[in-house]
Amino acid sequence: MKTIVLGVESTAHTFGVGIVKEREIIADTRYRYEPEKGGIHPREAALYFMNIGPSAISEALRSAGISARDLTGVAVALGPGLGPCLRVGATHARAMAAYLNKPLIPVNHAVAHIEVGKLVTNVKDPLIVYLSGGNTLIAAFNEGRYRVFGETLDIALGNFMDTFVREIGLAPPYVVNGVHQLDRCAEKGKELIDLPYVVKGQDVSFSGLLTAALRAVRRGVPIENVCYSVREIAYSAIVEVSERALVHTDKKEVLVVGGVAASKYLKEKFEIMSSSRGVELAIVPPKYAVDNGVMIAWTGLLAFKSGITIEPERAYVRQRWRLDDVDIPWFGQ
Ligand code: FE2
Repeated sequence: MKTIVLGVESTAHTFGVGIVKEREIIADTRYRYEPEKGGIHPREAALYFMNIGPSAISEALRSAGISARDLTGVAVALGPGLGPCLRVGATHARAMAAYLNKPLIPVNHAVAHIEVGKLVTNVKDPLIVYLSGGNTLIAAFNEGRYRVFGETLDIALGNFMDTFVREIGLAPPYVVNGVHQLDRCAEKGKELIDLPYVVKGQDVSFSGLLTAALRAVRRGVPIENVCYSVREIAYSAIVEVSERALVHTDKKEVLVVGGVAASKYLKEKFEIMSSSRGVELAIVPPKYAVDNGVMIAWTGLLAFKSGITIEPERAYVRQRWRLDDVDIPWFGQ
């Protein structure tokens, strides 16, 4: 009998419901909360999720052409993420699992980005560069877990980019036709200005760069040149720590995952680095690089097959659930 898992994603701005049947994706329903202005308001996003949640689940089941009774289990992203948002997804998944009397499978959102990336790109044992609104980290599998080899000391790359373009009046929307406003603005830049480049060991830091870049804009430096300099510095720092981690871990593949993976300028830098190192570069296509329910369903299926389930009454959300806290017994299967 084929294993069919439904996965619920609600860690930040996306309420996603995905269904997988073994390696086949049979449903992928997504609803994205878009703030009218400013950044994401967790409570507003949560309210939006509560409104669309039940219909998103029925829509996914309908598009898969199955009934809820056909599911083997229900997976849910319990963290890391925004508390109010996480709780809505957890409530839906717990209720479904309890009502249907099906196993509930806990999934770590960061692990799910990695697993869906491996599924769609076919890499096996990569150095992982995870770049999103809330996360910036370099990881690789070692002794049963994805170990973190470097991360941001303050804000995540995506959060940094969003904050910067918002503060200088270019956003929201942050991404237009698949291109981030930072990249768009940087295309018109001609001159690099002096801004702090901070790499400490294997870690990066963006808060000093943010402050200095905003100050430069206020001083009257053309915003195109500030954007261009910010882009070059931020992306170079990421590629530098990735290259060092590659040497350290001796991995032969690099996998870039997360919502920021879509940038073609970042991709160019990774291409130069990986070809000079002779390693294979895989970048998760935008559709699966952003948050979605499929990644939760797929990781849930892998976890379920390794015997990982959780009682609904014990399925608490974990806002700061770290990637390297999760055992990965299915690795290499
Ligand atoms: Fe994410």
